[in-house]
Amino acid sequence: MNIEIETGVLNAIEQRWSPYAFDGSAVSDQEMEVLVDAARRAPSAFNNQSARFLTAHRGTPEFKVIQETMIEWNQMWTADAGVLVVALGRDRFAYNDTPNPLAQLEVGFASQNLMTQATAMGLHVHPLSGFDADALAAKAEVPGYTPYFIMAIGRKRVVGDDDLIAKDQGRTWSRLPIEVVAQPFGNELIEA
Ligand SMILES: Cc1cc2nc3c(=O)[nH]c(=O)nc-3n(C[C@H](O)[C@H](O)[C@H](O)COP(=O)(O)O)c2cc1C
Repeated sequence: MNIEIETGVLNAIEQRWSPYAFDGSAVSDQEMEVLVDAARRAPSAFNNQSARFLTAHRGTPEFKVIQETMIEWNQMWTADAGVLVVALGRDRFAYNDTPNPLAQLEVGFASQNLMTQATAMGLHVHPLSGFDADALAAKAEVPGYTPYFIMAIGRKRVVGDDDLIAKDQGRTWSRLPIEVVAQPFGNELIEA
C-alpha cells in the first residue's frame, strides 16, 4: 500500500518521517520540555515510568561524546541535528526492585509520544539504533539503565542534488498493506 493513501489518521502521525538533512538550528529547552511532557504521559506497567531521556545540544562536548558511539554513517548525518536524545529504560521495576522486562517497550511508547509531539511542533526526529550501547552506557554513567536508541531532533534543511544527503529527496516511502498489518485472530497469518 502506498503511504499516500489516506485513512484519516492524525496529521502529526501522517507527517512524521525521519530526515537525514537537518539545518543545524538549535532545539530550545522550552521545546524539549514540551517533548518530554508528551513522553511522560505514555502508559507503563504499574505506572512504572521506566523511560528516561538524556539530552545533549549541538555544539556541546556531550553531543560529540554521544556521536562518537555511533556508526560512521549516523555520525555524518546527525552532525546538523539540534539535539541528541538518548532513550534509556530502567532495568528494574521501581515499585518492587525486580527485573523489568518491559523497559524497552515502555521506552518505545514514550518515545513515540515524543516523536508525534515533535512533528506537531514542526520539528523532525530521526531515531537510530546504529550505535554501541555498551560504550554509550559507560560514557553516560547511569547504572541500572540501558540505552535503547537515540533520537536526532531538529529542523529539516532543503537539500540540493549534489547534497550527500540528497537521499531525502529520492526516498521511496512504503508501508505494508493494512490487511497484512492487522489480520483476523485465529487465521493463518498472510505475509506481504
Ligand atoms: C529502532 C530504530 C532504529 C533505527 N536506526 C537507524 C539508524 O541506525 N540509522 C538510520 O539512518 N536510520 C535508522 N532508523 C530510521 C528508519 O530507517 C526509519 O524510521 C524507517 O526507514 C522508516 O522511515 P520513516 O521514519 O521516515 O517513516 C531507525 C528507526 C528505528 C525505529
